[in-house]
Amino acid sequence: MTAQLYDFGLVGLGVMGRNFILNVADNGFTAFGNDLDEAKVNALIEEGGDPNRVNASVDATVFVNSLSKPRKIMLLVPAGKIVDSVIESLLPLLDEEDIIIDGGNSFFTDTDRREAYLKEKGINFFGAGVSGGAKGARLGPSIMPGGSKAAYQHVKPIFEAVSAKYKGEPCVAYLGPKSAGNYVKMVHNGIEYGLMQLTSEIYDLLKKAGKLSNEELHKTYSEWNQGRLQSFLVEITSEIFAQKDDLTDGDLVDMILDKAKQKGTGKWTSQNAMDLGIPVPTIDIAVSMREISALKAERTKADERYDRPEPEAFIKSALVEKAEQALYFAFIMAYAQGMHQLADASKEYGYELDLGEIAKIWRAGCIIRAALLADITEAYQSEPELQNLLLSKSFVEKVQSTVDAARELVSYGAVNGIPLPGLSNALIYFDAYTSQRLPLNLIQAQRDYFGSHTYERIDREGIFHTDWQE
Ligand code: 6PG
Repeated sequence: MTAQLYDFGLVGLGVMGRNFILNVADNGFTAFGNDLDEAKVNALIEEGGDPNRVNASVDATVFVNSLSKPRKIMLLVPAGKIVDSVIESLLPLLDEEDIIIDGGNSFFTDTDRREAYLKEKGINFFGAGVSGGAKGARLGPSIMPGGSKAAYQHVKPIFEAVSAKYKGEPCVAYLGPKSAGNYVKMVHNGIEYGLMQLTSEIYDLLKKAGKLSNEELHKTYSEWNQGRLQSFLVEITSEIFAQKDDLTDGDLVDMILDKAKQKGTGKWTSQNAMDLGIPVPTIDIAVSMREISALKAERTKADERYDRPEPEAFIKSALVEKAEQALYFAFIMAYAQGMHQLADASKEYGYELDLGEIAKIWRAGCIIRAALLADITEAYQSEPELQNLLLSKSFVEKVQSTVDAARELVSYGAVNGIPLPGLSNALIYFDAYTSQRLPLNLIQAQRDYFGSHTYERIDREGIFHTDWQE
């Protein structure tokens, strides 16, 4: 009797890996797991119930030999050197045409390097961003695969079955060659940083200016989640305000240290945007705020040295209404910047990204899923060459009707000493991007003055230099 061969293999049986493989099995595919940790292997076998459906081994040879060809092996291991060492350990056991899928948050140039290296050996390599956290992996994540289009056909039925569904449509699509999938996931995370920063500073504003209690914050964010701000992050924010603390009589949110950690994907988005010359200030400031938050001891010392205005009272209902408008405005700016980065990076790296398709697979399953993404999908589907969301006619009214609230709150925050860096940067981005003339003619004059760097003119073609000190 020949041994049973399984449809799908997965290396790395941590929470994400275990949940993903169980999701694969729930969708009618047989799956085999592998991990060096025997306890994790046993836990999966036990949870899987039927070993003909889900099985696992610590032994890489047993694992590889248990998979049907071309083998489809997903890695859900921490990004970095571990990915390379898992690839090296699998390589001697694989056959040509087998497929390795890296489901972690790998840096996109690492994916390019691995893809080229494995291509020489006849192995297909995919970088596939997986978003949605542990729950998403179990019940339906958004998946962003990039790699060989031909090889994707082998993976497609499994990914489409396990992914989240938006009105029945799977939240996964082939995105492009090489590292397209990891790149898109990186920018997804940059947008995620922006949205998180915005939701948290609006909380600060509501608390300091409107004196909203945690219960009122819970109600406000849950009401917002019923409207145009409906999104995963607004939804979980509302739940966070309702969480009681186990260790004290208070609410948990008030007991959490205000130092935000980061694993690097937001910073990479920002760094790469700088490299490509694409402005993403709302993402940049979200990264900087995590860095400022880490300086807790210094902030505490500085807080003692400087006075800060006592925030002037704001009528609660008016504040909540304006905050909703401003948050909606700023969310649009964060998505607009991320989409703009994808559009330009696609040209630079030859990804041939379909932005409508990307917005579409972000509508469910991922961390940045939001009602707004349905509108963004439509905007890019009707105008695939759209350079920036702000240029879409369908967004003009949404932005025009909310920008005044952003202006009012940014100025209130500035006068009253409440930092609103994400919102301010969103507004600056909007005002600058929609200005036909900016004062950077003066910068050109200065450059030419001190360094003969030359300038262009508005009234005629050519490159000019002036001897300013004559
Ligand atoms: C997702 C998330 C996830 C990311 C965490 C933590 O889409 O499921 O983006 O991939 O790892 O959000 O990121 P930071 O530790 O950098 O905040």
